[in-house]
Amino acid sequence: MDSREKALRINRLRDQISVCQRCRLCQTRTNTVPGEGSVDASIMFIGEAPGHNEDLQGKPFVGRAGEVFDQLLQSAGMTRQEIFLCNILKCRPPDNRNPLSDEIRSCVGSLDLQIKLIDPQILAPMGNFAATYIFEKFSLPAQKITAIHGKIFPIHTPWGEKRIVPLFHPAVATYDAGKLPELKRDFQVFQKLKQELVERTKSTKSEVGN
Ligand code: URA
Repeated sequence: MDSREKALRINRLRDQISVCQRCRLCQTRTNTVPGEGSVDASIMFIGEAPGHNEDLQGKPFVGRAGEVFDQLLQSAGMTRQEIFLCNILKCRPPDNRNPLSDEIRSCVGSLDLQIKLIDPQILAPMGNFAATYIFEKFSLPAQKITAIHGKIFPIHTPWGEKRIVPLFHPAVATYDAGKLPELKRDFQVFQKLKQELVERTKSTKSEVGN
């Protein structure tokens, strides 16, 4: 699918999300937060759910956790323009409570469609809720984020070989600034993975050229 068609479908999905009433969170939200970024992104970052600022602006990670996220991205030489950033839940849970399992079940159809349309090479779930969902979706055994953060999990899908890189949620560093160096260390894995992607694209191109 070309970029124009992808963008069209992603925008159509965004419009559907904006009127969604599949769970109770539609009654308390100000705005839906569908996610944003490049439809051609090779890396998709997936957080938990919008917070207060995200609910007001309709954009992901624009509060304090977003500031940390931007620092982490920058430390790995990346920008928001080249990635896609979204959440498990597209609406804010009241008082930023944890997502409930029926809310996750009602909402993940949209995330599944985003993954299918954007077709990223790397999925980076941030925090326990996102990592649990992505591990289950791709039939990987459940593990706590403390045991798997920053590691690379290769997966085989009908759309080719992909990687899952679970990460600590950036909000962790808003409670404990001492965690920032560890979060930054985990993000360095993307430098290596991006290089790998460049090599893979080169070798595919030379195979086509031969
Ligand atoms: N935390 C999240 O998980 N997502 C956001 O968009 C903001 C904070």
